Amino acid sequence: MEGMDGLDVVACERCPELCESRSRIVNGAGPADADLLFVGEAPGANEDEQGEPFVGRSGDVLDETLREVGLDRGDVRITNCVRCRPPDNRDPHVEERAHCRPYLEHEIDAVDPAVVVTLGKVPAEHLLERDVAVTGEAGEVYDVPIEGTPRRVLVSVHPAATLYDPSQKETFGSALETAAEFSDGESGQKRLGDF
Ligand code: URA
Repeated sequence: MEGMDGLDVVACERCPELCESRSRIVNGAGPADADLLFVGEAPGANEDEQGEPFVGRSGDVLDETLREVGLDRGDVRITNCVRCRPPDNRDPHVEERAHCRPYLEHEIDAVDPAVVVTLGKVPAEHLLERDVAVTGEAGEVYDVPIEGTPRRVLVSVHPAATLYDPSQKETFGSALETAAEFSDGESGQKRLGDF
């Protein structure tokens, strides 16, 4: 795809405001054939500085919770709806998400994960294409077409939610427990349970 090298966007100027606010494009990280693909909202200050998604406090919560469900950050792929840091950490605008969507679709297509896990409201609404009450729907798995291919999408709260509201820790943990069931694990068997 134009502007991409493999799964990485190497050149993009589709969003004038984000071109101004970013220091760099923050591409997805993790194995290109991961069973689990986590999708966040957009890079924040730490991600913009280090060039990797979820490396700040939210990333610490994600790493820790992955470990609690028997996974390691290195086992999963992590990306965002939008690859450039929005100014003042505002939510990415609908048109910015639309500009970045072909890159995300390309990544989903290439990685072909067993499940796409949405972290927070923005990626859930972006991929399910409807309003989502993430706390209520966390842990739910939906089959949705993404670029014409049916995909499993698991809704989760954003890891940062657990920092503001400790009661979300359990919600986040149990969504990730469900996510872990889609991972090969050490047995080499996909633990797909009822899905
Ligand atoms: N929050 C996100 O949604 N994405 C990141 O990469 C970091 C924090």
